This record gives sequence, structure tokens and C-alpha cells, in this order.
Amino acid sequence: MSGVEGRGSRVEGTAKIEFRKVRKSFSGKEVLRGVDFGVGKGEVLFIIGTSGVGKSVTIKHIIGLLRPDSGEILLDGNRVDGLSEQALYDVRKRCAMVFQHATLFDSMTLLENVALPLRKHQGLSERDAEKEAAGLLDQVNLSDSYQAYPAALSDGMRKRAAIARALTMKPEVVLFDEPTTGLDPVNARRIDRLIRKLSDDLGVTSIVVSHDLTSIFSIADRIAMIYQGVAHFVGTPAELKASPDPILQQFVSGRSQGPMETPGF
Ligand SMILES: Nc1ncnc2c1ncn2[C@@H]1O[C@H](COP(=O)(O)OP(=O)(O)O)[C@@H](O)[C@H]1O
Ligand SMILES: [Mg+2]
Repeated sequence: MSGVEGRGSRVEGTAKIEFRKVRKSFSGKEVLRGVDFGVGKGEVLFIIGTSGVGKSVTIKHIIGLLRPDSGEILLDGNRVDGLSEQALYDVRKRCAMVFQHATLFDSMTLLENVALPLRKHQGLSERDAEKEAAGLLDQVNLSDSYQAYPAALSDGMRKRAAIARALTMKPEVVLFDEPTTGLDPVNARRIDRLIRKLSDDLGVTSIVVSHDLTSIFSIADRIAMIYQGVAHFVGTPAELKASPDPILQQFVSGRSQGPMETPGF
């Protein structure tokens, strides 16, 4: 690998998720040119990089929303790239994704929104589904809003409700695409605490696409930076801060001028 690696670049034991030389092009444009990194069980790994660099593309490969042109993606040591849609159903139960623009059903209360997948996919009765949904809403600090409709809520509350819904599958892995983008700092820190808690209390493995330096330096176990189609850096927050690499320094300092160019700007 051509990138900069800290001592924290390796996963101890078997990785929960591993990318091996993953390449992906769209209409001849190479986005991923051999992405390599691993995520340990129960870890919170952040994926950073400039906009358009391929962060969302990377995480979509884990649940088969995109398929690599070459390379391998493993979940608990087993390949998931190239699985049939049928087999991916199981992968998507184990790995939940919270999309950047999380959508809830506007005509349903929060409780109904979270109870729906429990009835539909877990086969719970309406009563049991609502009981479990209430517990999940409690976990994301929405105990006061069971009967609220999404339109009446702040972005931060909607985001937390979407996370509660993702948790209905009792996922082993949660993929968060920019969970704090567009949120005020108070709500952003609430999401941070929730992600950390899922990992610490339930052993959930989280991959978080984010530009939010506060989140990164408060809850990340490790960070992978995508740059020019590869994982240019994989390491701990302390290693990221201490690295003399000008590309990493530009990111950490939030400067727009530097070796790292933002496509389209
Ligand atoms: N389904 C797709 N079809 C064609 N191009 C895509 C598709 N998904 C992503 N891309 C392109 O891949 C590049 C990386 O996108 P993305 O991963 O969404 O960036 P980001 O790092 O901001 O999340 C962009 O140039 C985007 O236009
Ligand atoms: Mg994205």
C-alpha cells in the first residue's frame, strides 16, 4: 500500500469486515483503485476524505448495493462480494445501513415507523412490535416522542429515529453515512454518544462516514482516509493528529488550501 500507516492500522485477530484491493469504476471513471482496510469486531471506524472521493461507494459494497470490479470484501472472514441477492438478504440483516438522508414514513408515528419492520421482518405481533419499538426509541433518547409524526421533529430526532429503526434487525454492524452532517452540535454529540454506546454496550461494529472532526476525535477507534482511490491512511485518532503527512494535516486543520484537492471546487 502506498499510503501512510500508523501502528493502529492492523486489526487484531479476524476482522469483522475486510476490504482487499477493492476496485470500482463508473463509466470508465476509476473511483476505488485498490481499497484495503479492516474493521475489528466492536470497533468504531471512521471513513474520511473529500466529497466525491468514494466514501459512500465504499460502504455500499459491504451490503451488496454496489459490486466491486475486482477485489474482495469479507464479513467474519467470508466473502460477501459476488453473493446472490438471496444470500445478500442475510448480510443486510446483519449489517444495517443508516442512509445520509434517512427517510421515515410521514403518515406514521415514530412508534409505528419503528414497529413496522419488527412486524414485517421479525414477524412480531402488533403488541410485541410496539413494545420492542418503544425500547429502541428509549435507547436513542426518544422516549417522549413515541406518538410524534416525523414532520414535527427536528433533523436530529429524525436521524435518531432512523437509527432506532436500523436497530430493529439487531445488526452486528451498522453503517452510518454522514450521521451528523446538517445537525446542530448538541444533536451531533447525541448521535456520537449513541454510536459509541452501541459499540461499548452491545459490541456493535460501526463504520461511520463523516467529515465531523469533533466526532472523529471523540469517538473513533480508528480512521481510514480515502484519497486517490486508496486507503491512504489507516490508524488511530492520535496517529492521525501526529502524522506529518501534508494530506492528513490538511484534513485535520480543516484548510481548503493544500495538496488535497476537492473535486468540483
Ligand atoms: N451509482 C453510481 N453510478 C455512477 N457513479 C457513481 C455512483 N455512485 C457514486 N458514483 C460516483 O462515484 C464518486 C464517489 O461518490 P461517493 O462515494 O458518493 O462520494 P463521497 O465520498 O462524497 O461519499 C462520485 O464521482 C460519484 O459521482
Ligand atoms: Mg457520500
